[in-house]
Amino acid sequence: MNDTSSMTGRPVISSTGLFTPEESITNEELVASFNEYVQRHNAEHADAIAAGEMEPLAESSVGFIEKASGIKARHVMAKEPILDPDIMAPRWPQRSNDELSILAEIGVKAAKQALERAGRKPEDVDAVLCAASNMERPYPAMAIEIQQALGIDGFGFDMNVACSSATFGIQTAADYIRAGNAKSVLVVSPEITSGHLNWRDRDSHFIFGDVATAVLVEDAAVAPEKHWDILGTKLKTVFSNNIRNNFGFLNRAYPEDAGGPDKLFVQEGRKVFKEVVPMVAQMIVDEAERLDIEPQGLRRLWLHQANTGMNRLIAHRVLGHEANEDESPTVLDTYGNTSSAGSIIAFHLHSEDLKEGDTGLICSFGAGYSAGTVFVRKHG
Ligand code: COA
Repeated sequence: MNDTSSMTGRPVISSTGLFTPEESITNEELVASFNEYVQRHNAEHADAIAAGEMEPLAESSVGFIEKASGIKARHVMAKEPILDPDIMAPRWPQRSNDELSILAEIGVKAAKQALERAGRKPEDVDAVLCAASNMERPYPAMAIEIQQALGIDGFGFDMNVACSSATFGIQTAADYIRAGNAKSVLVVSPEITSGHLNWRDRDSHFIFGDVATAVLVEDAAVAPEKHWDILGTKLKTVFSNNIRNNFGFLNRAYPEDAGGPDKLFVQEGRKVFKEVVPMVAQMIVDEAERLDIEPQGLRRLWLHQANTGMNRLIAHRVLGHEANEDESPTVLDTYGNTSSAGSIIAFHLHSEDLKEGDTGLICSFGAGYSAGTVFVRKHG
């Protein structure tokens, strides 16, 4: 499909898919394990602490986590090792190159659901984008493995824009359709965020959870009768070190530092909060104006799920009043922050009830900084 002159299309969202890991960790379970680790650590270093050579570690608390973030539980791919104070990281048997990778496996599950819901066969799809913040390896691309596992004839590639990966993926897919280079594109976001989380860091050990989502972006000409028109997409990035992860293969150049805590997720949470909220709220309002949409008339906001406080503030600035759960649904309480998948989970679980003509917004934001908006209107 390379003849862009005759085939320009109008992109829509035909369907979405969601894979949720069976296992889940409550705040109570998480804090019990974390505090056990803290007690063991402080006992082990009691002499150094007593001599003032080392600061004791502080315990975590369920009350703080829920108040600061709104998170009550998170799904994970491997509960037991994460809760084991001696491990505090995910673990599963290593797979051979002949087996499907774990990231591809959960991506395929979400993608199959999206295809089924749209009544699509793999041969109808032209491209697969794996848009996620934590790739399992540099290459071959996860997207190509997912493409192969689904039996799609076309092309695929990976893209990482941290928590904004899914909306960046949707715009990229929409642009392929606008340009006439594809009619059906799967945007798959498998997020095994438990792998990048420092489960021993009190400030952030509660934040993330695992999940996979998929969004089928298609040309309206081939889409099912019931779909979501994409009214407009907008992306923005502004460099910041306030959410950062230094893990990478060049770490081999500094062997003495290759396993430091900065090789996992680190953030300046307060700065993120203060800087990202106004940036995203302004971006939404500006984009709504460009699209001639009255922000206060938006029927629903499916916002990135990082923190209930951030979402409350952004929704208030956009809608002009305190948003209720119907206007800005949250999935944070049971899923935690699932990076780029968060706004898509919210859309997947809370969009069926909208009526034809209702307009809403899928919006993500996170490391980079990065932010993406996708304004949609229900059709059929
Ligand atoms: N249990 C108990 N107390 C804790 C704690 C824990 N797990 N973690 C931190 N605290 C304490 C701190 O020590 C601090 O105590 P002090 O006031 O005595 O110094 C207090 O709680 C406040 O800590 P702070 O880190 O300032 O918390 P916060 O209210 O800013 O909330 C975040 C932390 C991370 C939840 C919040 O800043 C946030 O959500 N930021 C945006 C994060 C985000 O969206 N990131 C994007 C990731 S993709």
